[in-house]
Amino acid sequence: MNVSVLASSDKHLIDLVRGCGVHATPLSVDGLGTLAQPAARQPDAIVVDQRDHGAILPEIMAIKRLHPLTGVLMVLPRLDGALVLEAMRAGVNECVAEPVTREELYNALQRIAAQRPAPKRGDVFAIIGAKGGIGATTVAVNVAAMLNKLRPSSTLLIDLHMTYGDAGVFLAAEPRFSIVDALEHMDRMDATFLRSLVTQTKSGLHLLPSSERAVSVSFDAARVQTLIGLGSREFGYVVLDVPRNDPTVLDSLESAGTIVVVANQDVATVRSAGRLAGALEQRYGKDRVTVVITRFDATSEIGQPQVERVVGRPVTSVFPNNYPVALAALNSGRPLALDNHTKLAAAYTDFARQLSGIRAERSESAKPSGLLSFLGGRR
Ligand SMILES: Nc1ncnc2c1ncn2[C@@H]1O[C@H](COP(=O)(O)OP(=O)(O)OP(=O)(O)O)[C@@H](O)[C@H]1O
Ligand SMILES: [Mg+2]
Repeated sequence: MNVSVLASSDKHLIDLVRGCGVHATPLSVDGLGTLAQPAARQPDAIVVDQRDHGAILPEIMAIKRLHPLTGVLMVLPRLDGALVLEAMRAGVNECVAEPVTREELYNALQRIAAQRPAPKRGDVFAIIGAKGGIGATTVAVNVAAMLNKLRPSSTLLIDLHMTYGDAGVFLAAEPRFSIVDALEHMDRMDATFLRSLVTQTKSGLHLLPSSERAVSVSFDAARVQTLIGLGSREFGYVVLDVPRNDPTVLDSLESAGTIVVVANQDVATVRSAGRLAGALEQRYGKDRVTVVITRFDATSEIGQPQVERVVGRPVTSVFPNNYPVALAALNSGRPLALDNHTKLAAAYTDFARQLSGIRAERSESAKPSGLLSFLGGRR
């Protein structure tokens, strides 16, 4: 556990914290202010010695609002009801008081560690095209729409193209706010603010779209990562439409449980898919990166085995080529997977189930019906 210690006149406090078997580093009041920034990398816990201070520092409340997973342990002069209440209102997790012992600190840090949820990254899915225009956004939009159909109101689609991304067009959305509005206002970002920025599209899927205005500022990866993390705490599933040539965004996929590289069947794209998948594997680990083929043509010279050989890993899903259906869906602003009567729609549905682990219910036609079920029951 990494613990930052805001000490006061008691120079032994940090040694006591270290004696609890954690990695403790000293923290200044300025350092506390830095931790209160939206994109600041957080320690697991902060120990604040409140014995020499009057009022509780406002930075603590800001940290708990922006980074609710950061545990705060406060050392008070005495366990006075009013003081404890004030600390709790500021979001402090644990209080200990004079005389401060190693055992008390240890037990309080243990309780903070036990409250921390395991990092949630299983339900964030990042979709990246190995080349431009090959159908990556179509995959992202359809997978997100299907997840949202399988678990209503569960899914947020974030278009991580800062400007001029297409996810909103695929969903006929008329959004008021964009990813840029979110990233520009991370200082006031919380669950309520995020909900006020996302648009619920006609199919029910929630969307944080790309900006329709040019932006000159670039955002750091920690900020993008914080936003994705907040999305994943608020929504059951988060699907990311990821631009392949934005290094900052590619560096902010820590929350993604599965990173899907979309390829098709031309040599340049397949080579690019292999390189991209390799780089993402190095950054995020082998088990989190997968390759799929879209616009799949069974008669193509380059078949699935050839693609697998070049990308050096199995292809986990194949989405058939069906341009008329894909184009009609794009023009109508309704994800095609929602009207499940083509092989392409079925492939998106299967993929959404595969990613989320939501099993298919037995279809009506597969259930014994009428006379057959009656006979089955009698036997
Ligand atoms: N399975 C498919 N079969 C046929 N056409 C498809 C298929 N999937 C997508 N398309 C078509 O390919 C075109 C590009 O799709 P899309 O915008 O999803 O690609 P992209 O990789 O996200 O592109 P960009 O690099 O511009 O973000 C669209 O016209 C879309 O309708
Ligand atoms: Mg796209």
